[in-house]
Amino acid sequence: MENKGQANSKGQFGSSFGFLMAAIGSAVGLGNLWGFPYKMGANGGFAFLILYLILVVFVGYVMLLTELSLGRRTGKGVIGAYEAISKKYAFIGWMGAIAPWLILSFYSMLGGYCIKYAVANLGDLFGAGWGVGGVDSSEFFAGFTTDMLETSIYSLIFVILTVVIVLRGVSGGIEKFNSVAMPALFVMLVIVIIRSVTLPGASEGLAFMFKPDWSVFEGNGWISVLSVAGGQMFFSLSIGMSIMIAYGSYLPKDQNLERNALTIPLADTTVAVMAGVATLPAVFAYGLEPSQGPGMLYITLQAVFSNMGDLGGLFGFLFYGLVFIAAITSSISLLEGVTSAAMDKAIEKGRTPNRKKTTLILGISIAITSVLVSLDGLGANGFPQFFGQSTWLDAVDLISEGILMPLGACYCAIVIPISWVNEEVTLNGSRFRTKGFYDFCIKFVAPIMMVMILLGQLDTFFGLGMF
Ligand code: PHE
Repeated sequence: MENKGQANSKGQFGSSFGFLMAAIGSAVGLGNLWGFPYKMGANGGFAFLILYLILVVFVGYVMLLTELSLGRRTGKGVIGAYEAISKKYAFIGWMGAIAPWLILSFYSMLGGYCIKYAVANLGDLFGAGWGVGGVDSSEFFAGFTTDMLETSIYSLIFVILTVVIVLRGVSGGIEKFNSVAMPALFVMLVIVIIRSVTLPGASEGLAFMFKPDWSVFEGNGWISVLSVAGGQMFFSLSIGMSIMIAYGSYLPKDQNLERNALTIPLADTTVAVMAGVATLPAVFAYGLEPSQGPGMLYITLQAVFSNMGDLGGLFGFLFYGLVFIAAITSSISLLEGVTSAAMDKAIEKGRTPNRKKTTLILGISIAITSVLVSLDGLGANGFPQFFGQSTWLDAVDLISEGILMPLGACYCAIVIPISWVNEEVTLNGSRFRTKGFYDFCIKFVAPIMMVMILLGQLDTFFGLGMF
């Protein structure tokens, strides 16, 4: 059942740079660009950052190393990888395959919003009729998001682009695209940061983000901050499902796993903090308030660009282009996580895996679910709602991010044979420098934290007020 060194028949990364760009591309996404800055500001600023960093080191790094090792050791996607530990763990694999499939439905819709906003800002730059054209940004947002046809079309464009890249395979599609897109994203981010922090009044935004407010930890407060930070960490690092297992399975055996598992969270957290510095100073400079969820990304920031004058369209285009790149490099990893597991099923039956067919079938299913989520118009189109949530996006998010991801990660930490990780990390005679730390965290810290995060997530989604 194990992959002893031969290339993976589903594909393989060509270089360690390419792998890193793909893995960081997966990690850096909408979670970094709107989730992180807002959550940090609203949950104690610097205090949140410290807790987040602790979680990243004790849980994020440990889980990443585990998933990458499990993937590379078995050479399988998520279902096959857990089956390789024991047939009875197949259900963990299924959870890890269903979660990204669900996430893709709303992720594609939000990615479609980015395309729309990039196009609209370009329209403003050229003074064209299809721009935002000075319309109030909340009105523009409501008008667009409740337009069932338009949102569905943009979601579909996003799904098609994702499918086209994944169709081309690991090195020819995913790696190639990320190797260009991620450096471009970085450059665009730096440009937007320079604009944002040089606006008059920008320092207030930095103060919002970095001002330490330790009082959030008082009483049971620390549990709720822990669950916000923990949920954010899972989502942001793309752990707790199939992605890092699939990407690990495409990593050549001569690559050092420990170094990669350290670099990915470092880069991801750096971009999250940079995203805050790119957005919050501008929000405050224009006297706006950061708000929760998609509102901040699309309403508040569009108000910033509309207020910027002549060059607002240019910065808006750059910014939403940047968010689009971040989103698509994540969505291709989500799709690859499911594709890789599905291709294993063909291999098990003795057939040669057909990437094109598998990707297309999955792509069609996601096209359908993303149109469904788009039709809901963020709950404004009057459809019935589920699980006590106010939008279909939130309902899907509850099942995937709220339940399947932390539960999957928790199971992963419990069932992983630690010797596998050890053998995989030391494969080429490399020293496993963090072995003592890893063993301790995977056995005790990670499972306990994950149960707490799971409870916290349920508490937030259902508004139970447990903590
Ligand atoms: N990590 C991505 C983000 O921060 C989202 C994502 C989650 C991608 C899970 C893949 C898997 O937006």
